[in-house]
Amino acid sequence: MNERETRPEKGAEKVPVITIDGPSGSGKGTVSRLIASRLGWRFLDSGALYRLVALAALARRDDLADESKIAIVARELDVEFKLDSDAGEPQILLEGSAVGGEIRSETCGDAASRVAALPAVREALLARQRDFRALPGLVADGRDMGSVVFPDAALKIFLDASPEERAQRRYKQLKEKGMSANLAGLLDEIKLRDARDRNRSVAPLVPAVDAILVDSTHQGIDEVVTGILEAWSQRS
Ligand code: C5P
Repeated sequence: MNERETRPEKGAEKVPVITIDGPSGSGKGTVSRLIASRLGWRFLDSGALYRLVALAALARRDDLADESKIAIVARELDVEFKLDSDAGEPQILLEGSAVGGEIRSETCGDAASRVAALPAVREALLARQRDFRALPGLVADGRDMGSVVFPDAALKIFLDASPEERAQRRYKQLKEKGMSANLAGLLDEIKLRDARDRNRSVAPLVPAVDAILVDSTHQGIDEVVTGILEAWSQRS
């Protein structure tokens, strides 16, 4: 995010937001990017912000449990997202340098879920996330987008899938990238991360009361995207 983007837009509350929350591996990243691209809206990958805080803290060798230190890292994070017009993953610059594949590693995901459990870190990222809200609209992907960050969102989706299916998807993804993977190990990590995300004291991973629950266990990405776009067209 550059400095110009960090200033709140006037009348930001009138900008429509679609929130897509859910656990990792539910497909929400891909689904959110596709919906943003179809609608011509902006896209917020809030998980990337937590992952970037974790990366920056790991690089500084900070103790991931040191709440005040990690909150400073979150507040001072110098990050810019360069959007890809083809709905691919945006390029991320941390302190001006492109972040590589390490941001998507299990180590980084695990560290992100640790720092995400710290209330001061969540607080430090709140305004940054809300600053993504700009016309013509925003699709926000995360865990607490509908419940905490954009409670007035026009449409809230909670996308889920069974842990076994999510582990399979992750396994396939890693294999396709030529990386080594162990299905049983991935399932354990997913369950551990879910438990941490669902049981933390602040902004736990729970559907907002007014969210539509979508189970993607037996649905392909296209089917999920079509369903959400239909729900949106019925509301607007
Ligand atoms: O979505 P992703 O897997 O990239 O998120 C990494 C971690 O960041 C999650 O496991 C979760 O702990 C945290 N997170 C969060 N709130 C969000 C987005 C991500 O706590 N809105």
